[in-house]
Amino acid sequence: MTIVIENPQEFKNWRNANKGKTMGFVPTMGALHVGHESLIRHAKNQNELVAISIYVNPTQFDNKQDLQNYPQTWEADLKVAKQHKVDAIFAPNYAAIYPDNYTYSVAENSISKTLCGASRPGHFDGVLSVVLKLLNIVAPTRAYFGEKDFQQLTLIRGMAEAFFLDCEIIGVPTVREKDGLAYSSRNQHLSAHGRVLAGQINAIIKTAGDTNQASARLKSIGFEIDYIADVFGRRLVAVKTNETKTGSAVRLIDNVEI
Ligand code: PAJ
Repeated sequence: MTIVIENPQEFKNWRNANKGKTMGFVPTMGALHVGHESLIRHAKNQNELVAISIYVNPTQFDNKQDLQNYPQTWEADLKVAKQHKVDAIFAPNYAAIYPDNYTYSVAENSISKTLCGASRPGHFDGVLSVVLKLLNIVAPTRAYFGEKDFQQLTLIRGMAEAFFLDCEIIGVPTVREKDGLAYSSRNQHLSAHGRVLAGQINAIIKTAGDTNQASARLKSIGFEIDYIADVFGRRLVAVKTNETKTGSAVRLIDNVEI
């Protein structure tokens, strides 16, 4: 049975009632796809109980339009959770998770200002703040995050260490479509042509000799480069394309081991 809990205190009570059991936790913003499912599978394999959260966190969106366009697919998400025999879904609303109205936040002053953080001010403080709240409510043994968002994973690991959190942070490899495109809720906004172009990003960053070469090749097929950098032992990239269904640009990120 999959239970749905909206209230933080109720979730804590449920966790307390299962104190003796190991718990795997997968935080998400919903619109679940096979990338999320892989995280759930890892959590299932390593823990007695699994909880996921579904919460579209407004404090990590620097762009209102982006927040409004974020897909909400509650019924389908519930089905996915049930299929995977997830024990609990934590689905709070803003008032429940931000009783302080975001007057308190976690600030990281180094890595969070670079790469994705440079073009999205406040983004990672929003991510870290909500993840700390979720970890405190859920009290998991292990929490699972995708390597797809490698800078996010790095910052969450850093926060867990800095604040002595009692939770193991586990990184899960990126799940990709056949042509190498990393699964993302944003892919559905691409036009047919944009989707074909997006399928080349992974091969380009994998095979280019250096970031300059990769950048030139991405530009030559029409992408605007937000950043491309070799850091954390990986090559991280963010690109933008106007080849979309909606008319507004879509931003895609990826990274590979180097
Ligand atoms: P969301 O974008 O829903 O992603 C939830 C988790 O799924 C993240 O850890 C992300 O890295 C992982 N993920 C997404 N696509 C993936 C893929 N193709 N392969 C493997 N893992 C993938 O990331 C967030 O939500 C939020 O920032 C959150 C951590 C929930 C805080 O609000």
